[in-house]
Amino acid sequence: MDNRNYNNYNSGPQRPRKRKRVSKDTLRKRQLTALFVIALIVLIFVVVIAKACSKGSSKVGDTKPADGTTTTTSAVTTLAPQTTAPETVLTTTTIVTGSNDPEKGFKLDKYSVYINIGESGIAYVQQYPEGSSEADEVWKSSDEKIATVDAYGHIVGVSGGECYVTLSAKNNPTQEVMIKVVVAGAPAANNAQQQGNNTPLSDDKKTDDKKTEDGNKPGTDDKKPAETEKKQETPEPQPLAEAPAPSKINDSSAHYEGNVLIVNKSYPISSSYNPGGLDPTCSEWFNKLTQDSAKEGLNIYFASGFRSYEYQSQIYNNYVANYGQSSADTFSARPGHSEHQTGLAIDVNTIDDSFAGTPEAIWLADNCYKYGFIIRYPKGKDSITGYKYEPWHIRYVGYETAKKVHDAGENMTLEELYGINSQYS
Ligand code: DAL
Ligand code: ZN
Repeated sequence: MDNRNYNNYNSGPQRPRKRKRVSKDTLRKRQLTALFVIALIVLIFVVVIAKACSKGSSKVGDTKPADGTTTTTSAVTTLAPQTTAPETVLTTTTIVTGSNDPEKGFKLDKYSVYINIGESGIAYVQQYPEGSSEADEVWKSSDEKIATVDAYGHIVGVSGGECYVTLSAKNNPTQEVMIKVVVAGAPAANNAQQQGNNTPLSDDKKTDDKKTEDGNKPGTDDKKPAETEKKQETPEPQPLAEAPAPSKINDSSAHYEGNVLIVNKSYPISSSYNPGGLDPTCSEWFNKLTQDSAKEGLNIYFASGFRSYEYQSQIYNNYVANYGQSSADTFSARPGHSEHQTGLAIDVNTIDDSFAGTPEAIWLADNCYKYGFIIRYPKGKDSITGYKYEPWHIRYVGYETAKKVHDAGENMTLEELYGINSQYS
């Protein structure tokens, strides 16, 4: 080892004093390198910050699809699941935007609806796409076994689960918006909705209708054996004479004609009356009705049942806002005046005029009395019942009264049977 090396290892304290001479060129190179490294660090920092910002701000609705097609964006906000009563909402879920420009497309007051089985929910439209109006609304459920939606956007829970309801514009199909629907709660064993859920729904409906039509027409030879087989397999529905009158409700405002509760425009019930669901006897006999109709190849399913005073208020007020009061009064009951609040009324299948004349509607009108139900708002009796024809709205009164209404002639009403009015005072 020479002295120089020895010094290198052992004479450390002396080193700072020995400053190396550096050429100007080398100094310049070092400065440039340092500048480059600093610039690189700044660049990386800027990129990281930019990325973080873009993540935080890419909430639902911020992304505008360039082509305006049906691509949707979504973000999910999930709250802790609740495990309590069916009245509670299970989750807060996805908000889904439409494909349209959020500024120019539909705007709703909410994009998620939480309901229990048999309950209804609604998302109010606050803005229509340019050139569209409420007349262009097209509502569709992604899964009618979970929730149905009618032509006015009323969503009804059918069975526990999640699905989407889509609102689009008839005159501009690229404009659509989606609502996440969460239906909470398991159906009770005798729950009418469960029965509705067990019967085939929308997509199978056409097939079932066809079966019925075929059954009513002279079939081809190769069809006859199948029909005979079907008849052998499914016994004829037995006439039912025992659907009892429902128990009297505990409400001081309730008006009875004999044992029949009357709720119409003249006879309201209290805003506080809330049985919380369908009357159990009504539910039980509705199940029998759907079972027997299914044996005949028909698909009658629960769409809407009990509605609280508060919920009826929402529905009615929405109609008033959209159609004006005098029009709304022809098809929607004012709160306190709806039979749905009693738990004794059920709407079946599609709650619009398209239900009229279907094999299901015809069977229902002919047979519902055997199960204790009547068609409450028959055709041509608007001025008597106070409401337009509703072939889907059945009211449970028990067999005895239902048969009386049935035997009194086509389209008989409770108002006529008891000589009472249905008019708002
Ligand atoms: N649609 C019936 C009349 C109701 O609102 O109860
Ligand atoms: Zn109804």
